[in-house]
Amino acid sequence: MSIATIFDTMDYGSAPEDRGPALKWIRDHGGIAGPYVNGKWGPFRNDLTIHNPATGEKIAGMTLTSAKEVAVAVKSARAAQPAWEASGGPARARVLYAIARIMQKHARLLAVMESLDNGKPIRESRDIDIPLAIRHFYHHAGHAQLMQTALPDRKAVGVCGQIIPWNFPLLMLAWKIAPALAMGNTVVLKPAEYTPMTAMLFADICAQAEVPAGVVNIITGDGSTGEALVNSDVDKIAFTGSTAVGRKIQDSVAINDKSLTLELGGKSPYIVFDDADIDSAIEGLVDAIWFNQGQVCCAGSRLLVHEAIAEDFHRRLKVRMDKLRIGDPLDKSIDVGAIVDPIQLAQIKKLVSANTAGETYHANITVPEGCYYPPTLITGLHTSDTLMQEEIFGPVLVSTTFRTPSEAIEVANNTRYGLAATLWTENINLALEIAPKLVAGVVWVNATNLFDAAAGFGGVRESGFGREGGWEGLQAYTKSTNPEVPALEVAAFKGSSAGSDPVDRTAKLYIGGKQSRPDGGYSQAIYAPKGEFLGHVPIANRKDVRNAVQAQTACGWGNTSGHLRAQILFYIAENLSAQRESFAQRIDEMCGGDAGLKEVNDAIDILFCYAAWADKFEGRAKSVPIRGIALAMREPVGRIAALCPDSTPLLGLVAPMATALATGNTITLCASQPFPLSGTDFYHILETSDVPAGAVNILTGPQNELASHIGAHMDLDSVWCLSTKKVAVTTKEKASSNVKRIWQGAALDDHNSWLNAGTEIKTIWVPYGE
Ligand code: NAI
Repeated sequence: MSIATIFDTMDYGSAPEDRGPALKWIRDHGGIAGPYVNGKWGPFRNDLTIHNPATGEKIAGMTLTSAKEVAVAVKSARAAQPAWEASGGPARARVLYAIARIMQKHARLLAVMESLDNGKPIRESRDIDIPLAIRHFYHHAGHAQLMQTALPDRKAVGVCGQIIPWNFPLLMLAWKIAPALAMGNTVVLKPAEYTPMTAMLFADICAQAEVPAGVVNIITGDGSTGEALVNSDVDKIAFTGSTAVGRKIQDSVAINDKSLTLELGGKSPYIVFDDADIDSAIEGLVDAIWFNQGQVCCAGSRLLVHEAIAEDFHRRLKVRMDKLRIGDPLDKSIDVGAIVDPIQLAQIKKLVSANTAGETYHANITVPEGCYYPPTLITGLHTSDTLMQEEIFGPVLVSTTFRTPSEAIEVANNTRYGLAATLWTENINLALEIAPKLVAGVVWVNATNLFDAAAGFGGVRESGFGREGGWEGLQAYTKSTNPEVPALEVAAFKGSSAGSDPVDRTAKLYIGGKQSRPDGGYSQAIYAPKGEFLGHVPIANRKDVRNAVQAQTACGWGNTSGHLRAQILFYIAENLSAQRESFAQRIDEMCGGDAGLKEVNDAIDILFCYAAWADKFEGRAKSVPIRGIALAMREPVGRIAALCPDSTPLLGLVAPMATALATGNTITLCASQPFPLSGTDFYHILETSDVPAGAVNILTGPQNELASHIGAHMDLDSVWCLSTKKVAVTTKEKASSNVKRIWQGAALDDHNSWLNAGTEIKTIWVPYGE
């Protein structure tokens, strides 16, 4: 082709990247992706085959690590952990810096290997995946360095099992390994079965960086290896992948005390208002849904466009789609590469061909033979259509329209997921009004798919829980140095005479700001230590739980200001203080002994304490390397239920209530099972303290049964299991129904842990400049 022709056509030539060095590395390492455990490679077996999705060629074999071999890896991580933690933050920082520097030195090899293995365009792996992964190690080297001064009350969790997907193999590895190592944990990481190659390179880099043996262990394998890791002797599981597998893992860890973070799927809305900069919004969409062939958990896969501009927007979008270049991922001028595997391609085809709604447009471009799928737009869908709800995980954008900002919010939030959201408008007032109302862990304003190691990433609802990146990401890899006192099971006292309640003290449930009789119509008698009858309390059932959660949903507590929440908590404290003696007497009567007054005083202190915190537990403005800011906003977790401890009937109820209210949540409290009368007395205090209906509900009855209903309830966002281990297990066994956050408490003076349990970070990215 002559230069004159090139000027004439303005056509791209091909600019292929050399795959030779990556293939040579694989050959030099035995042609097999296999475990790296305790600083040594192997065993290498040809159990599975790794393909280049762009060509279908075999690039390596892969060992399917067995459960026995997984146990060996975990054992070596366990043996290495104490010394790694004891080496101290500054020593760990040096190792993380060394990893980052060596990764930088081999950046091109990592990028080529990633594209070869995954099929993503080299432009993306070279300019996004690898630099971000390196940045993660630099950033977390800093966290290691600062740990002792910045987080004096946190220590390592121990051994972390980490399972990652195939869409960002090295980046997900970095997101998991960097914070874990920084905080003094050791890791056993399983890459996805389609894409183990950059994890192999990373193991090699660890050896070069002189990471002590056993600190980083990589095990290759499929779901069965992942399952073995979940069931092994690790202290924590961190998982990124599909919601279906996330649920399975949540079920598997229900019976033990492993901590868990889940980063799952999404169906993230991409909202374009009529005043948006349309050209930018269209370029943003290219990044939102055709980046990595749409195989992105936070892909802006659901376009919501203002009705007034929809026709023009779709027309211009199709013109842009027709200009996308699809083909060899190692060609530097390619926009869209290969789908990761024929199985994934078949899944995309199946979902799209099953759809009969709306109008489907495939980009008018030549799609190469093999594992490729054309950029696709489906317009005119309704919220209820399958493709508006199901994650396609491919280059397929679905679209609908809205008329008003409130309709946009309603449609955007009409999903079981809550990972990310994008909104485009030139009106900053509108953007900052809408962003907090979107149910998502990350919101991008006039931009999309911005990531950085300093900014937390993660979801709400069925997109999972936990954050990766930033200060908030360190939570998951640390635990408090202040051990919580384990809640003990206390048996109720027995008595023989079932006396009658005094007329003015008949205990009820407290639901929606009203005293209410239990739906089932049953009560149980409560006796003093010597068997005297003290009163009856209602036995709540599933319907009472449902009514309480409905009342929580109807309550607007989350929209109140921190100042107002503080005032109400002070008021509750004041009213409890006025009844100090009667509450103390009640505790002594129920529990025996004379500790009642101290418990009441402690409860009053807790109320004052969280009243003070209500307007002071703030977010941050993150320093991210863009022209703009990332705001880490603390949002209430939402609707919480707490199973209160047996032994401290008043304090055990007041502490979760005070924290939940201070952080903007509503709460249903299941009072102490053996000593519930402090709970039923307490609603009289609430009634006189201006607490809005539904913000606090109090139930009584057998906690294990209530735990089962609470665990399974689809509208509860979090359950605080502060009572017995058995009750916690019952809750956790049901919690994967809607991927609930389960929290098992902290010492009462560990305010940070309590406040963190009541909040979740939403990161709002706002670039600036013209
Ligand atoms: P997956 O969730 O099955 O795999 C993710 C990782 O979990 C892999 O390392 C896999 O080996 C491991 N795994 C699988 N079963 C396991 C088990 N029972 N216990 C422990 N670990 C297990 O995802 P897959 O099959 O690769 O893709 C299926 C669908 O999942 C995709 O079509 C997409 O919709 C979604 N997906 C979502 C991702 C996200 O980032 N949200 C990432 C990858 C897939």
